[in-house]
Amino acid sequence: MTDTAGLEKQILAEIAGAGDEAALEAVRVAALGRNGSITALLKTLGALPPEERKIQGPLINGLKDSLNAALAARRDSLKSAALEARLNAESVDVTLPVREAPFEVGRVHPITQVMDELTAIFADMGFAIAEGPDIETDDYNFTKLNFPEDHPARDMQATFFFNPKPDGTRLLLRTHTSPVQVRTMLTQKPPIRVIVPGRTYRSDWDQTHTPMFHQVEGLVIDKGSHLGHLKWILEEFLKAFFEIDRVGMRFRPSFFPFTEPSLEVDIQCRRDKGEIRFGEGSDWLEILGCGMVHPNVLKNCGLDPDEYQGFAWGMGIERIAALKYGISDVRQFFEADVRWLAHYGFRPLDFPTLAGGLSS
Ligand code: DAH
Repeated sequence: MTDTAGLEKQILAEIAGAGDEAALEAVRVAALGRNGSITALLKTLGALPPEERKIQGPLINGLKDSLNAALAARRDSLKSAALEARLNAESVDVTLPVREAPFEVGRVHPITQVMDELTAIFADMGFAIAEGPDIETDDYNFTKLNFPEDHPARDMQATFFFNPKPDGTRLLLRTHTSPVQVRTMLTQKPPIRVIVPGRTYRSDWDQTHTPMFHQVEGLVIDKGSHLGHLKWILEEFLKAFFEIDRVGMRFRPSFFPFTEPSLEVDIQCRRDKGEIRFGEGSDWLEILGCGMVHPNVLKNCGLDPDEYQGFAWGMGIERIAALKYGISDVRQFFEADVRWLAHYGFRPLDFPTLAGGLSS
């Protein structure tokens, strides 16, 4: 007589011990397959005397049913364990940065990054980009901007002059982006809304000055433009640029030949262990110059000051880049040190956008 109880125990142990679906299938075939041990038992039923068959029949069939149930249960649990393992192995963390492609090894220079950020912010406010040449005329760089001839204001900006031409005029490396105001007013009809990012030159070299540097100029000309508009634009810009919710601003009277009144803007900040935070604290930091475009400049550019008025501002890009990204010596911007660039540079495919984040 077969020990069905012993056989059941043994097969159940094999089922429990099967580590994967293939091992489980092997156990099933060995028990219930065509040549399986339980199948063999079932085959013996036919030859048994009827009395015994009445006892053995339900016993062996019951064993078969319970093994099938145990097999099904084990298969289910192996399946879900396999799925679980696969999900763990194949999980994707969508918050991780995109893996770097080989062509992405270069870095975007912080100055380029900041110009892209400025452009994104001002484009969103409806500004167009205007450009002009690095080599400029004395007339556009100074005279049309209301710098009087031989006035000391011309020396405020340590200008690189070219040798005078036979007619006495001389070209120069533009000392600011403001001559592009002149170029824009001479060629476009108001309303004008432009920003002018670009290279500028002055004979200077120390921790906060380099002979070539960058500025961004802003110019708005219309019939009703006023300082309130300027203030709002600058406030929105500074919040977006420094990625903060509020910004404290202070306007101080100043002097530029091409604006009247002229103002300098400080922003509120807190210096903390070599770090600087904006929108809080009790320190102030000068950040840009601005004002209402001087009526003489409008006249010099063919606009009637009784009809049009506007405002302008100018800002050093190295300065705001250094403030935002914690760069202490602006000379580093021009040293072309790849280790510095690897640290301070930006990934080439992370374009700054207002929706996706300017600097993330
Ligand atoms: N051009 C000035 C400079 O380089 C900056 C500036 C000040 C530009 C006031 C402006 C302005 O447009 O309104 O120092």
